[in-house]
Amino acid sequence: MDVLSNSDASQNLKHSEIESFFDSAPQLKDRDDIDRRLDEFIKKNSQSSGKLLRVVCVTSGGTTVPLEKRCVRYIDNFSSGHRGATSTEYLLKAGYAVIFLNRRGTCQPFCTSLPEDPLLSCFEIDKEQNLQVLGSQSEAVMRAVGEHRAATDQGLLLKIPFTTIFEYLQMLQLTAMSMKTLGTHAMFYLAAAVSDFYVPWESMVEHKIQSAPGPFDMRLVQVPKMLSVLRNYWAPMAYCVSFKLETDSKILLEKAEMALKKYEMNAVVANELTTRKEEVVLVTSNERIKVHRDNTQPDAVVECPLIKLLVENHSAYISTR
Ligand code: PMT
Repeated sequence: MDVLSNSDASQNLKHSEIESFFDSAPQLKDRDDIDRRLDEFIKKNSQSSGKLLRVVCVTSGGTTVPLEKRCVRYIDNFSSGHRGATSTEYLLKAGYAVIFLNRRGTCQPFCTSLPEDPLLSCFEIDKEQNLQVLGSQSEAVMRAVGEHRAATDQGLLLKIPFTTIFEYLQMLQLTAMSMKTLGTHAMFYLAAAVSDFYVPWESMVEHKIQSAPGPFDMRLVQVPKMLSVLRNYWAPMAYCVSFKLETDSKILLEKAEMALKKYEMNAVVANELTTRKEEVVLVTSNERIKVHRDNTQPDAVVECPLIKLLVENHSAYISTR
């Protein structure tokens, strides 16, 4: 009989949970296409004239947990995608190529400063039947279109959309494994709000759950944490930044410190739900840095100083390896 230590046994248990999650998840329909696009993107952006370039995977938005295979109802996770989209803009400005793994329908890079009016009310058709941007909106729309076009024309932005927890984790795995070759030049910026509990595919009902009197019981299983696998197997040399969101400020920093150590992250961005657009704390193994939005500038965002700091830390990480 094999005798396992407690830590070996718990490692094995975690591995089997992860394997069973992937084995039972419905396969991605466009898996080969995503794999091909990732490969092309990384080949193109990994070096230029012999110089190694940097690529970051930004995850953004919340994952859903379907309750039925032919899904009518699902549990959702709060996240507008603003953090991921805005951070992507600053990472592109800092010279990174960005893989934007994003929840369908959430905020997109370069759209965060657009007017809130529905898209169609930003345009009019003139007498010559040309499409014109309406006067008051034109500056913001033109800037957004121009910056987005520049990033996509240069092949620096690859968008991969997900909805469910099954799609998200399979896509994260594919992305991380293709970024492994980038070594220390890869960064993960894990701002997505990932479901903690889910209904395993094999125990999920096929059809719409019918209404019935009385309470309805459903068994949810814990989603295996993928941060350790990402760190240790998928892309072990990458610079990894995870996020910690809490609503109780008293436990926030303690939880961020715990995540930093437990998952061996290079940095954890701690944020509180109500103040997340004003301030965050960057927690690393030797410091806690409060990062604030510049209140003297009307359009300033906290992601601007945050990304500046992370880029400096990533540079230091590359040079010490
Ligand atoms: O999108 P916005 O509205 O702008 O809001 C931004 C944000 C608040 C969503 C963002 O800043 C943020 O904090 N994102 C992480 C929120 C979260 O769900 O934290 P968590 O404590 O559940 O997870 C911590 C980390 O573990 C995350 O980096 C997550 O990607 C990762 N995780 C979580 C669960 C799981 N099964 N596997 C994981 O890898």
